[in-house]
Amino acid sequence: MRFEEFLRKVPKVELHCHFEGTVRASTFADLAKRHGIALPTGDVSKLYDYATIYEFLDIFALVSSTLVDREDFARVAYESLEDGVTLGNLRYREMFFNPTLHTRRGIRIATVLDGMIDGIRQAETDLGVQCRLIADVYRQDEPATARQMVEEVVELRRPEVIGLGMDGAESPDSPERFVEAFALAARNGLRLTSHACEDGPPENVTTCLDLLGCERIDHGYHVLESPEVTARCRDEGIYFTCCPTSTSVVYGWTDLRTHPIRDMVDAGLRVTLNSDDPTMFRTDIGSEYADLCMALHYDVAQVRRFVFDGIEATWLDDSDKTSLRRAFSDELEHLERQLEAT
Ligand code: HPA
Ligand code: ZN
Repeated sequence: MRFEEFLRKVPKVELHCHFEGTVRASTFADLAKRHGIALPTGDVSKLYDYATIYEFLDIFALVSSTLVDREDFARVAYESLEDGVTLGNLRYREMFFNPTLHTRRGIRIATVLDGMIDGIRQAETDLGVQCRLIADVYRQDEPATARQMVEEVVELRRPEVIGLGMDGAESPDSPERFVEAFALAARNGLRLTSHACEDGPPENVTTCLDLLGCERIDHGYHVLESPEVTARCRDEGIYFTCCPTSTSVVYGWTDLRTHPIRDMVDAGLRVTLNSDDPTMFRTDIGSEYADLCMALHYDVAQVRRFVFDGIEATWLDDSDKTSLRRAFSDELEHLERQLEAT
């Protein structure tokens, strides 16, 4: 087996993937037609073209607006997990979704959640993949809107929802605006993470860790600009959920050989690999491993570090982590033997 094929076949967990960013272009077009929503182009292959994070977020909101009925949410959740399994041997995902992108259009949060959960359960039955959910604060919302979103999520008490995160454009809205929403989530037993240092300064990581109480950091590249914050994250073993492709498109890090992920690994930070918004960035979790590890000539030992750090960074309990570690170890040994045989 060639190394690239091995990288696609390695069993994986994924911790940074947005539900609304996993809609297949063909499904986007189909749902838009069904619900009478106008699209900027009739050419399905051009639906996901954009150059900046702001253009990206506009299309992200447009995709979200085509999700209306419980069945739409179920279909997209199922297809999203199916793509992860088929293209990258995905076994477990903690997946973001943006409640307020739906509730502000009058969709009930129960419709959003129960639809996604239908799709997740069907995918587990059919494909053996597991998925849990993380509700994301949308940074451009008002703090009171974010707080209310957390209240609604907490009130519904769906066991699949295990955490709170935060996304949207980082530069204009600093993380401390949402301290109340995060505190409320923590009081109600949700785990915490946040996008930070995607295009914002290292202080955003400090704020997310110390003020919001986050356990993980999503992206994190600009942390490297501060030796102090970098050292702290290394010493505390903070996990970073990094996304090679999405950041190359919107931030111009097109050459994976010089992507900041390389420097984060070299600095001793704990990095996991993820696809962010796979269909919107024309990628998948298999390609993220294949493209980055091939570009940086990473060896099997480094691939194992990405995979097992991914398991450690999940919010599964210890016994579930142990089972996943065992299953992945067995499968990796088998795959490594096939790699040696060629
Ligand atoms: N960053 C900010 N907002 C987002 C992202 C991201 O990676 N994906 C979806 N919304
Ligand atoms: Zn993201």
